[in-house]
Amino acid sequence: MEIPVVFMVLLVLCSSSADAQSAPSPSLTPTPAPAPAPDFVNLTDLLTVAGPFHTFLGYLESTKVLKTFQDQANNTEEGITIFVPQDKAFTSLKSPSLSNLTADQLKSLVLFHALPHYYSLADFKNLSDMSPVATLAGGQYTLNFTDVSGTAHLTSGWSDTKVSSSVHSTEPVAVYQVDKVLLPEAIFGTDIPPAAAPAPAPEVAPADAPKDADNEDLSPGSSPGKSSSYRIISWGIWGHLVLAISGGLVLFL
Ligand SMILES: *[C@@H]1O[C@H](CO)[C@@H](O)[C@H](O)[C@H]1NC(C)=O
Ligand SMILES: *[C@@H]1O[C@H](CO)[C@@H](O)[C@H](O)[C@H]1NC(C)=O
Ligand SMILES: *[C@@H]1O[C@H](CO)[C@@H](O)[C@H](O)[C@H]1NC(C)=O
Ligand SMILES: *[C@@H]1O[C@H](CO)[C@@H](O)[C@H](O)[C@H]1NC(C)=O
Ligand SMILES: *[C@@H]1O[C@H](CO)[C@@H](O)[C@H](O)[C@H]1NC(C)=O
Repeated sequence: MEIPVVFMVLLVLCSSSADAQSAPSPSLTPTPAPAPAPDFVNLTDLLTVAGPFHTFLGYLESTKVLKTFQDQANNTEEGITIFVPQDKAFTSLKSPSLSNLTADQLKSLVLFHALPHYYSLADFKNLSDMSPVATLAGGQYTLNFTDVSGTAHLTSGWSDTKVSSSVHSTEPVAVYQVDKVLLPEAIFGTDIPPAAAPAPAPEVAPADAPKDADNEDLSPGSSPGKSSSYRIISWGIWGHLVLAISGGLVLFL
């Protein structure tokens, strides 16, 4: 209670002294909005520093889908939402294997990891209602979304995964990390083998951990992605705080 009062007094003093000087009425010219920052997001740079997403980036480059995604990000009103599996999602993918896919199938599989529209995390509730949702691979390459206590889960039939962190989410480009490679039924068919091991661990554990105990697990690498997303979130909070405070000042003035 004390601070606002002091603040009010200061304000009154300021304004009355301004009146006394009969200064030209303090004009309310809104500070000119800073020149709109270029929205351009270089997806190569983004996926190089976050992650590690090197395997997915490699597929993006070899299939030339990178250009498709960058075009969609650069040149459309709709924007793009990309789901990026970490490198370890590819190493833990034993079957079905991606190695004998045709070039076209591989391209479709990569396109399957993006939606032709920007969705913030808050929009994922809508996606549940809209499921099945068309991906950039088109046709029957669709994903189903469900909201499980605030976390977005994605299902392609073969893979059931979730958004595990936000790498970048500023209109028109959203990039979210997912725990698994998304495998479309349109390529692998609907003859989905029942979940291999009776792995009780939900979601996080790749079902095949015991077999390659000697396989170096890359899990420490996951922390940069996580922490950068936390940083984004905390910047968001700071941003709101700053906005709120300056909003309050504007009200007073
Ligand atoms: C993104 O950055 C990479 C390397 O930093 C560069 O080679 C590439 O041309 C850039 N892409 C676009 C679309 O500007
Ligand atoms: C995207 O925009 C950047 C910067 O304007 C440009 O360098 C790049 O060539 C564009 N890429 C595509 C695929 O449109
Ligand atoms: C890939 O090869 C395996 C066995 O080598 C086979 O079972 C599978 O059907 C092949 N997949 C495709 C898409 O050709
Ligand atoms: C999500 O749904 C809300 C309310 O129905 C709507 O206002 C909003 O525009 C939708 N967002 C998208 C991205 O469709
Ligand atoms: C996606 O949802 C549709 C409609 O609810 C359903 O028919 C379809 O089987 C679902 N697909 C997957 C892969 O869960």
